[in-house]
Amino acid sequence: MKNFLSILKRKAVVTTALATTLVAGSLSTQVQAEVDEDTSVWSWEQADKIERTDENTAPQISEEEIKDIAPDLHVWDTWPLRNRDGSVARVNGYKVIFSLTAKKEGVTPSERHGIAKIRYFYSKDGKSWEMGGLAYDPEQALGSRQWAGSAMIDDGKVNLFYTATGRKSNETKTYEQRLAKVSADIETNKDGVELTSNGDHEILLEADGEHYQTLEQSEGKGVIYSFRDPWFFQDPKSGEEYLVFEGNSAGTASEQTCQPANYGSESFQQTHDAPEDAKLYNGAVGIAKKGEDLSDWNLQKPILEADCVNQQLERPHFMVKGNQYYLFTITHKFTFAPQITAPDGLYGFTSDSLHGDYKPLNDSGLVIANPENDPLQAYSWVVLPHGEVSSFVNKYNTEDGEQKFGGTLAPTLKLSVHKDETKIVNESKFPKIK
Ligand code: FRU
Repeated sequence: MKNFLSILKRKAVVTTALATTLVAGSLSTQVQAEVDEDTSVWSWEQADKIERTDENTAPQISEEEIKDIAPDLHVWDTWPLRNRDGSVARVNGYKVIFSLTAKKEGVTPSERHGIAKIRYFYSKDGKSWEMGGLAYDPEQALGSRQWAGSAMIDDGKVNLFYTATGRKSNETKTYEQRLAKVSADIETNKDGVELTSNGDHEILLEADGEHYQTLEQSEGKGVIYSFRDPWFFQDPKSGEEYLVFEGNSAGTASEQTCQPANYGSESFQQTHDAPEDAKLYNGAVGIAKKGEDLSDWNLQKPILEADCVNQQLERPHFMVKGNQYYLFTITHKFTFAPQITAPDGLYGFTSDSLHGDYKPLNDSGLVIANPENDPLQAYSWVVLPHGEVSSFVNKYNTEDGEQKFGGTLAPTLKLSVHKDETKIVNESKFPKIK
């Protein structure tokens, strides 16, 4: 399966193409575009360095820190309403967050994904949250359920980007995922915040089979399929706007192979051989550039691929600090390829240019892991503009040694980010959005 002669679409090949063109004396714009849009690789060699350290291991969440913000609901993936430039929005003194939710009654934690709907909460102090209600009329929403998500306010209009999963017309639930949007008006008064969506739900993007694998191309073979989690991003350097999202590298699953670049350095390639199943792991961070308006998006090549390393790079998002782009994503232990042992965690990469080349933070990519004795305690970390990290309480161990699903916001962590290194520096007792 390891085919050293196979044609690489990666940097080495692009560089050769560029050199050839330069010799010929004409640097065509086509080649230039290829170079700009090159896809970075999270290699097995890099992921092999993943290990828990004092800098990346989160403190254990104690039971008294777990406050149910909506006692009748499972609450998980959460994102704040942001301004167009990515700063957290304040609307007449209120902060607003959006969360995936499902009723608790009669619904087990693992069934929640099958009936997910987006609700919003608001807060004046960013610590205690009141529920506002559903973010839209579920009858009007696209998909049989709605998954994550980002939200941006501009000119008084809230733009909610979400994943339309399956179709209302499907008799059985499918894993088809499409990127969608709805807008809403927002009103505030002394009693709280009210969102009124105007119902114009629209599909923005679908997997094209060329840059991103379609559900059909996945042939039901990988651990789980993905084309989801749209996250709005305005590039502060160029002013251009993008959606980043979770996808799978294009191609038919049965034809996927592990390429030398997916292994890492030449010496690593020569001393390692991936198990047969590794080739089915093809997680990618996708990107689409805005055209004329917020309804018009053009798919580009993935910015990062984890072929033969990991199947799911979930909820990708950026933080920009100084000249550096920081790309964060979350993933699970069970979605790493079989030859890699790594924890559920927040992983990150950095580059001084939006399209890369991205290098893993802390050499391996690991930024936040749950503690070893509570390895599933939190998930779905999101890094906010000043390094605060919000997440939800997942399956934590109680003092009686039972495992329980938290289904509510977790205490916020604070991350220090310096060049290509990060460190957890603090934990607030609240799910605080600054
Ligand atoms: C991460 C995630 C997201 C998805 C949602 C579905 O926790 O898998 O990628 O949108 O959960 O519930």
